[in-house]
Amino acid sequence: MSSSEPRIPLAEPLIGGNAEAYLLECLRTNFVSSVGPFVTRFEEAFAAAVGSRFAVACSSGTAAIHLAMRVLEVGPGDEVLVPSMTFVASVNPIAYVGATPVLVDSEDATYNMDPGLVVGELERRARLGIRQPKAIELVHLLGHPADLGAVLETAERHGVAVIEDASEALGAGYAIGTWAGRHVGSIGRVGCFSFNGNKLITTGGGGMLVTDDEAIARRARHLSTQARLPGAAYDHDDMGYNYRLTNVAAAMGLAQLEELPSLLGARVVNAAAYDGALGSMPWLRPAPRAQWAAPSFWLYTAALADDLVEREPDARRRVLEVLGGHAIEARPVWTPLHRTRLWSAAPRLGGNVAERIFAKAFSLPSSSSLSDLQRARVIAALREAAPA
Ligand SMILES: Cc1ncc(COP(=O)(O)O)c(C=O)c1O
Repeated sequence: MSSSEPRIPLAEPLIGGNAEAYLLECLRTNFVSSVGPFVTRFEEAFAAAVGSRFAVACSSGTAAIHLAMRVLEVGPGDEVLVPSMTFVASVNPIAYVGATPVLVDSEDATYNMDPGLVVGELERRARLGIRQPKAIELVHLLGHPADLGAVLETAERHGVAVIEDASEALGAGYAIGTWAGRHVGSIGRVGCFSFNGNKLITTGGGGMLVTDDEAIARRARHLSTQARLPGAAYDHDDMGYNYRLTNVAAAMGLAQLEELPSLLGARVVNAAAYDGALGSMPWLRPAPRAQWAAPSFWLYTAALADDLVEREPDARRRVLEVLGGHAIEARPVWTPLHRTRLWSAAPRLGGNVAERIFAKAFSLPSSSSLSDLQRARVIAALREAAPA
């Protein structure tokens, strides 16, 4: 073990292509804030890339989700179904608008929210005449699409809006079935993306709200700019936010988006290398992938074999320590939010699948810049961490 080895981060940006030229253009033209041509160019290119009619650039993914709650008129007294296993930013905006998140358990097949629980809950409420949730927020975790079919159909039948939190899944979509060829985020009423530093493309910090509904797009843009009405006077017709992306960030986003195919390709190379290595480690396997899914491999995730976790409940911590000892940054999947101090009292649906996943799954270094040598170091460290 030697901590003098160069650090391999979990996910670092790879910024190239036109980024420098576009950023210089911002400086030369003095368009650095949220007024400037790159914001619109980035929005249009992004909408085309994911197959949505409209895109609204925001200062973060969290801001995009907050705007999604506002445009769908989620408010006090409402409930939103959302997975318990996700980053906290999927859930906090539900509370920003005074609504209550209902934390739903995961499914083993994709690690995403269990669609059976969601469908069962909507049908149960319909049968008993209980008020339906105002929205369902699907999260496409770690680059693997959530199973949409039954959820979307049932939600539509009961008049419940579907929001997609695709923050972690730019580049992922559906390979087979009703949604074949479609990109995550473009299917529900509203989709949200994040461009923070560890995402597949980054703007330093930023996000995007996408929708096919022109009125929703217009209102989201309005709310993102303090709901200020046109004209010289400062008149406002709603309580808005300063959530607009800057021209500088959008310039970077456009350049990054142009590189998306190669950034995704590098992720596939990472996944193939890790898959190959895990083939000879019976104690560790790739996180499950549905055959209908086209994942982006944003964070390549592996899971300890169930019998190992039974024998050695703390095995995941031990493996991460071995990797850490070689300056390799690997990380457990998200702590189920019902296990966090913030959300432990939230209403829940389902059992302990998310907790079981949490005990065994972790993500490996997944940057698009990862070299053969770096992947080989990760794999060698995993072999060293094999159980006795
Ligand atoms: C699932 C999920 N939702 C929302 C966000 C929030 O995005 P941001 O950090 O851009 O606010 C992130 C990532 O950061 C995320 O992983």
